[in-house]
Amino acid sequence: MLKVINVVGARPNFMKVAPVVEAMRGRPAEFSPTVVHTGQHYDERMSDAFFRDLGLPTPDVHLGVGSGSHAQQTAAVMQRFEPVVLEHRPDWVLVVGDVNSTLACALVCSKLGVRVAHVEAGLRSRDRAMPEEINRILTDQLSDLLLTPSQDADRNLLAEGIPAGRIRFVGNVMIDSLFKQLERAETSRVREELGVAGGDYAVVTLHRPSNVDEPETLRGILSALTLISERLPVIFPIHPRTRKNLEEFGLLGASEGRGRLRLVEPLGYLDFLRLYSGARLVLTDSGGIQEETTALGVPCLTLRENTERPVTVELGTNRVVGTDPERIDRGAEAVLARGKGSEPPRVPPLWDGKTADRILDALTESE
Ligand code: UD1
Repeated sequence: MLKVINVVGARPNFMKVAPVVEAMRGRPAEFSPTVVHTGQHYDERMSDAFFRDLGLPTPDVHLGVGSGSHAQQTAAVMQRFEPVVLEHRPDWVLVVGDVNSTLACALVCSKLGVRVAHVEAGLRSRDRAMPEEINRILTDQLSDLLLTPSQDADRNLLAEGIPAGRIRFVGNVMIDSLFKQLERAETSRVREELGVAGGDYAVVTLHRPSNVDEPETLRGILSALTLISERLPVIFPIHPRTRKNLEEFGLLGASEGRGRLRLVEPLGYLDFLRLYSGARLVLTDSGGIQEETTALGVPCLTLRENTERPVTVELGTNRVVGTDPERIDRGAEAVLARGKGSEPPRVPPLWDGKTADRILDALTESE
């Protein structure tokens, strides 16, 4: 029986851990799972709503860390996670993705001699100005088992000197959640509530510090979104970081009520899935949404200069257009000029809804 602590911290972690915990609960003779929430995200809309939508059990331990500078947040997670590991003495700690909580917990375990498995290992943007890139590189160096979503990730890890025996290509576990919840999401009335049912619309998400912490960049992106909203309604569920900055830069009033750009509160998993799955176009700086739109064949424009998920461009529906307003607008125009549904989903290898079980097999086989 393997005792596994599964760590969640921020919004993009929940849909990666939910299928793993569910699979562990389905194999009780082999696994005894515990869920630890660091509390990096704590708002009802950024956290609790996802536990409900994804059927994630209430965390066994909540570290209640909250917001802070990178150092404060990372240090607070480390200080509060260490006694939990000492008390539980797990066989494995499973961390996912690239948020500060991921690195903090991996670092605690490596010093205590507790084995770490990293889900979504090996992704690289090659942009060290991104805090997530630092988290990815360091977490991978510290981990004992590197579970990759795509084969480019295996190549990245090998190039960094990680032994092949520690790397396992298991596929994309986010897609397990996506396929599992697709039918339930049909009960969501979000399209009707937002008045876009049956028509064309675009969906936007933005939260990267490089896009939203800099007034000029944010202003430029907003001007592109306003232009696009002259062609079709644009729904923008807004991340707390982005809202705070729009207010601070005096851009909130200016962005609302212009064209058909509509700012709404962050949505839960099922509502958001229902919304983007019917969109004509998605514009985002999120990593996960690049993957989800690829899996469903929804055109996606990534508002960044790079992506750590190149498979979504090579095999999927993603185009990296950067943050220049004209390029964004041209990218949107090109998508809209093509017919709806002209890009059938070309799902990358092992994005098949069965990744959680392969993760569990990799853990048992690494004993
Ligand atoms: C974090 C992750 C990022 C991930 C994103 C998803 C890191 C370095 N970044 O960025 O990789 O894509 O989560 O959302 O780990 N806030 C709230 N309520 C919350 C959470 C945050 O109001 O529940 C506000 C706080 O003012 C906080 C700010 O948002 O200062 C940023 O939160 P933080 O967790 O530091 O980073 P994110 O930008 O969310």
